[in-house]
Formats: sequence, C-alpha cells, structure tokens
Amino acid sequence: NVLILDFGSQYTQLIARRVRELNIFCEIFPYNNIPSDLSSYKAVILSGSPFSVRGEDAPHPDLSQIRGKMPLLAVCYGAQYLAHFSGGEVAPSNIREYGRANLSYIKEEELFFDDVNINSQVWMSHSDTIKQLPTGGVRLASTKDVENAAYRIEGETTYAIQFHPEVYHSEDGKQMLENFLVKIAEVPQNFTPKSFVEEIVAEMKEKIQDEKVVLGLSGGVDSTVAAVLLNKAIGKNLYCIFVNNGLLRKNEFENVLNQYKHMGLNVKGVDASARFLSELAGVDDPETKRKIIGRVFIEVFDDEAHHIEDVKFLAQGTIYPDVIESVSVKGPSATIKSHHNVGGLPDFMKLQIVEPLRMLFKDEVRRVGKTLGIDDELLGRHPFPGPGLSIRILGDITPEKVRILQEVDHIFINGLKEHGLYDKVWQAGAILLPVNSVGVMGDERTYEKVVALRAVESTDGMTADWVHLPYDFMMKISNEIINKVKGVNRVVYDISSKPPATIEWE
Ligand code: XMP
Repeated sequence: NVLILDFGSQYTQLIARRVRELNIFCEIFPYNNIPSDLSSYKAVILSGSPFSVRGEDAPHPDLSQIRGKMPLLAVCYGAQYLAHFSGGEVAPSNIREYGRANLSYIKEEELFFDDVNINSQVWMSHSDTIKQLPTGGVRLASTKDVENAAYRIEGETTYAIQFHPEVYHSEDGKQMLENFLVKIAEVPQNFTPKSFVEEIVAEMKEKIQDEKVVLGLSGGVDSTVAAVLLNKAIGKNLYCIFVNNGLLRKNEFENVLNQYKHMGLNVKGVDASARFLSELAGVDDPETKRKIIGRVFIEVFDDEAHHIEDVKFLAQGTIYPDVIESVSVKGPSATIKSHHNVGGLPDFMKLQIVEPLRMLFKDEVRRVGKTLGIDDELLGRHPFPGPGLSIRILGDITPEKVRILQEVDHIFINGLKEHGLYDKVWQAGAILLPVNSVGVMGDERTYEKVVALRAVESTDGMTADWVHLPYDFMMKISNEIINKVKGVNRVVYDISSKPPATIEWE
C-alpha cells in the first residue's frame, strides 16, 4: 500500500493511476490530513503543487514520521519542499521550465534509473528551480537547463525528482516509478481485480453481517458492478431498485431489468414514468427539470425502501474520483463536502452507507466487472445523465416528444453499434430542438421538428471534442431518421467542443 500526499497538483490523480497500473494499491490524502497510523504504508509519494515553496501560504506539513523512516519519493513541489526546508536552496528560475526536456546526465549504477536511457524525455512544469541540494543530497540526473533534475539523500531511501514521471510524455516515467516502488521500496505488486474482489467481498460480509441492504440501480456501470459485488457478498439480503423515470432510452427499462434478472440480482423494477412526466409537465427551465427529477426519484426510492423490512444499509456506486473530489486540496486548506441537514432527509438517507467501489477508478471498475463476469455490452455503455432524455428535450417535455427522441436516439445508437463506431465514441445521443422547420415529403410540404445528433470523445467528460463520424454513416443515419420517425424532417450534427460548449445542451 502506497500513500500519496497531495499538494494540489493537477497530476496527483495520474500518479495514483500509474501506481495502480503497476498492480500496487495506493491512496491519496491531502497534505494537511496525513493519516495518523502509517503502519500499513510501504512507501510515500509527495505530489506537485501550484504553490511555490517560497510563498507564505506554501504547504508545510510535518513529515517527521515519514522521512528517513520509510521510502519516500518527492515529485516537483515535493522535491523543492525537501530541498528548501532541509538546507538546500530554491529560487525562481530565469529560464522557462515547462514541457519536454531530456535527461542529459544520469548518475551510473543508480537503481532509480535502472533501464532508463540517457536522453530519456521527461516532462517539466515548474517556475522555481533547486539551486542547491539539501544536506546529504546526491545529484542523480540533470537536463540542459535543470542541473538538479533528480537527487537522493545519502543514508535514507529518499528520492526527489523535479520532473513529472506520472505524465505520458515522460517516456520512462513508469519505469522510474517501478524502480522506486518495486526495486527500491520492495512494495508487493498484488493489487489485481481478482484480489480486489476477494478482499472487498470479505470486507462487505464482515461489515454487513446478516443485515439488509438497499441499492438503486441505474443501468450504468458503477451501480451494476456495485450490485454484483454485494450480491456475491450477501446474496438475497441485497434489495435492488431500478426506477423507470420515463426518460430512459427506448426499451431500456425492460432490457436492462431482464439483464439484471439473468445476472441473479434481486431487483425490483418500479415504473414511475407517469409520475415523473406529470410533475415535469409544462416545465422548460433545465435546472428546474433536474430538481424535479431529483426530488421525485428520492420520493419513489424512499417509498420502495419502506417496503423492505428492517433495512439497515444503503449501497452506492461512488467511485474514487468522487471521493478525491470531496477531500482534495483546493487552495491552502482542504475542502470537505458539507453535509445535508440530516433532520430533513428521507428515511432511506438515514441508513448507513456502504460504497464497495469507493477506492476504484472508472477503468478499474470495468476490469472488476469483467472479473465478475458482467457482460461487455453492459460494461462498455456510454455515460447517460441521471435526468435522462429530459435535458435532451429542449423546452417542455411531453410524452410525444419523449417518444420522438427515443426513436431518433435508438436509430443513432444502433447505427453506431452496427458500424463498429460505438466503442470509439465516449458518449453519443440525440437532442430534440424546440424548433419546427419546413420540409417536403412526396408532394407535400411538412413543418416538423429538428433533431441534433451529438457524439464526443473525452476521457472524463470535463473536456470533450466532437467526433468526426464518417460522412457515409451520417448520410445513412440522417435518411433513416427522417424516413422512419414521424414528426422529424431535419437532422443536424453538433460540431462544438467543450469548452466552450458542454456535452449536453441543457
Ligand atoms: P456537460 O453537459 O456538463 O456533461 O458537458 C458532462 C457529463 O455529465 C453528464 N451530465 C449529467 N449527469 N446528471 C448526471 O447524472 C446531470 O444533471 C448531468 N448533466 C450532465 C453528461 O451526460 C456528460 O457525460
């Protein structure tokens, strides 16, 4: 187990990703919330930071329980931090040190640089530079502009590097992390999807015992994997609820419900479409739509949870990025998500929470899902927003508009699948515009709806770009939509990136 101390770098999550790729488990903690019990950690990594060590508000944690007592790797800010406060010197650099650089000097016979070639490309991102190494510092590498690009401390297993080994552009970065964690710190590489499943199933059994758990399934990857894991741990005591809000994709409720039943899950489908659609009638403001859907979902779920006698736990499909988000370093102090006023919450929210996936990244959830034997089709599904098609119907929502959009979306998504494009796209869908346009069909003039198609590539939904779908494919899909979906006579394709646009239109 490796501890990563976060000083607020945009790359901290990437360090964790790289460590996990080595099949080594790691956890991120903010620098001002170091775990008091360090006995389970075999090594510590200090992240980079937007701060300067010379600044007044610079993070300045007490590392006395760590330094010299266990293997320590300090990256970027971490490297400057060790230098600045231990007898070295850090000063503003006169040359820009951003982007690619090459290791022009590497000290020989250093385990840290095993299998790393001279001139290896590394990625720099700093404005201060280490002018003088700290006491006991031994220079390990330099670039043309940065003399102290890497050093270690004599008599300790402390290593420090100015560049970022975690970014893709540091070509031997992963090798260096492996050298440090495996060869130097001797951390075992035993974190695999299979070992995770075994451990978490045992942990959940221990925590839940013979109590009952309720879980809301959405058809998405996270809640599905969470359910299958819990089903393995506690079987019939897991009660899953899958709510149809009437804003799902065409046939999705029936199809996914069937899939769940085949997977042996104890799942109850609740069709609350009419209730959602009647509460949404006449509402056209996007945020109001979201609020109504959120509230009605809680009411429906609470009603259902009450039908389960003596339920004690609520399971959620929370994953690691959500956890980090709520405790990450934002400025000099860590922000912790504020909690709701418990008194006003529905009953099910007073249950104890279990989150079997809270330590996993999205792709790890997928791999765990695969280990559990969940269908590739289910695991590879595009993200779909909680408020569903309601935020893809611009303006007010009617059952007829939902029907039109479901048909259009169905043709588009099926088309992507048939043409082998679905897995190349991060997210795709259709948007029903509140606009009619003139067309001609046969000898008749039509005045019908316009739909927009959207397909984006992204890694996390934070930034995205539109996908250059083949013209032949777009031609075919456009024809099929206009010919088959009554009420639509025009199809357009959204070619906006995020930012400045967003993925959804509302
Ligand atoms: P935007 O439109 O902000 O979307 O670029 C980014 C990602 O978030 C999804 N999204 C939502 N998911 N509830 C959700 O559960 C919402 O209200 C919501 N709004 C957007 C969107 O589909 C995309 O994947």
